[in-house]
Amino acid sequence: MWAGRHVVLGVSGGIACYKSCILARRLTEAGARVDVVLTRAAAEFVRPLTFEALTGRPVLTSLWEPDRALAHVRLADAADLVIVAPATAQLLARAAQGLADDVLTALLLARTGPVLAAPAMNDSMYAQEATGRNVAALAARGWAFVGPEVGPLAEGPSDRPGRMSEPESILAHAARLLRRGSPLAGRTVVVTAGPTREPIDPVRVVTNRSSGKMGYRLAEAAWERGADVVLVSGPVNLAAPVGVRLRSVETTEDLEKAVAEELPQADVLIMAAAPADYRPSSPSDAKHPRTDGALAIPMEPTADILRATIAVRKRGSVIVGFALETGDAIHKARTKLEGKALDLIVVNDALEPGAGFDVDTNRVAILDREGNARVVPLASKREVADTILDAVEARLG
Ligand SMILES: Cc1cc2nc3c(=O)[nH]c(=O)nc-3n(C[C@H](O)[C@H](O)[C@H](O)COP(=O)(O)O)c2cc1C
Repeated sequence: MWAGRHVVLGVSGGIACYKSCILARRLTEAGARVDVVLTRAAAEFVRPLTFEALTGRPVLTSLWEPDRALAHVRLADAADLVIVAPATAQLLARAAQGLADDVLTALLLARTGPVLAAPAMNDSMYAQEATGRNVAALAARGWAFVGPEVGPLAEGPSDRPGRMSEPESILAHAARLLRRGSPLAGRTVVVTAGPTREPIDPVRVVTNRSSGKMGYRLAEAAWERGADVVLVSGPVNLAAPVGVRLRSVETTEDLEKAVAEELPQADVLIMAAAPADYRPSSPSDAKHPRTDGALAIPMEPTADILRATIAVRKRGSVIVGFALETGDAIHKARTKLEGKALDLIVVNDALEPGAGFDVDTNRVAILDREGNARVVPLASKREVADTILDAVEARLG
């Protein structure tokens, strides 16, 4: 997503400047060319040298730098995206008035492409009508905003907006802004993720080793492409991706119910969860006591979620299944694709190193109804998610 992109990171003088260092670093690590532009106040908080070291590029701090005359205009023209983080009350006021009294405001006034601002200030400053008017004026000019959030401020706790959004959130909003116009924009995508848990008794469960990572990366990538994303997740240890609506479920029956409720609205359903196929037939209300003998727990099959819900799918929707197999994976997945009337099936082999459960990488093949198979070499789960979404987008009418 970020490789080869040119980003200007404008930094104005708020205490949240320290988080802009992380943002500069993340963008650079992700492959973007990052040019940092500081106001004079920002340079009081963080020295230009810090940003220069983090981005590997010279930092612009003044209109009057020797050898860099008109750099602000060139950057305004050339950047794929301008991010202003933090955007102080003062910076918003100056930009809203159309002032060009330093290098950052001059650049912003010359800018015609997308701008994303992350306001950050004392909560009372943000609540002022004047600040609200400035934000509204800039939004009317086409600026996009992320935050501010409710949360602790440098000066103490607060229950009103003022705190700058975290770098991860700014990055996700920036990616969504850059990808606007993607075929998934405005579509509803439902992703299932993680394991389910079936009770044996009040304290013990039957579950599996699914980490949820593949589904979470899919939900994140779909949101960044502009989709409205619902993530139906079994119990996992992962933070909800920015922007997605999370529905937490426990058992396969809960998962089935949630999918049945969400499917009628879904343009895309991606079933990346690993629901339990069997559950104890009669979970006990009391904890099984420990005994010396063997314990046999009668199990019964759970519902096949797709079979139980497919009738309510929206016309023209794309349904993607996952098949995790141990050996002969492609052949088994092809049978599943045909048996379940899926549009695409993503298959991986749990026995292959770097693929399957609980790792950050995956090696998959994407099979379609027309009999094509695309092998995706070992890549991060986020990269695999983007490849799967490319295949989904190609099928959307
Ligand atoms: C310690 C300290 C923290 C500050 N934090 C903020 C802040 O978070 N948000 C804000 O709008 N202004 C903050 N200010 C005030 C700005 O630095 C001041 O308005 C300055 O003129 C902003 O200039 P600039 O927008 O050109 O960077 C802070 C000032 C100080 C001294």
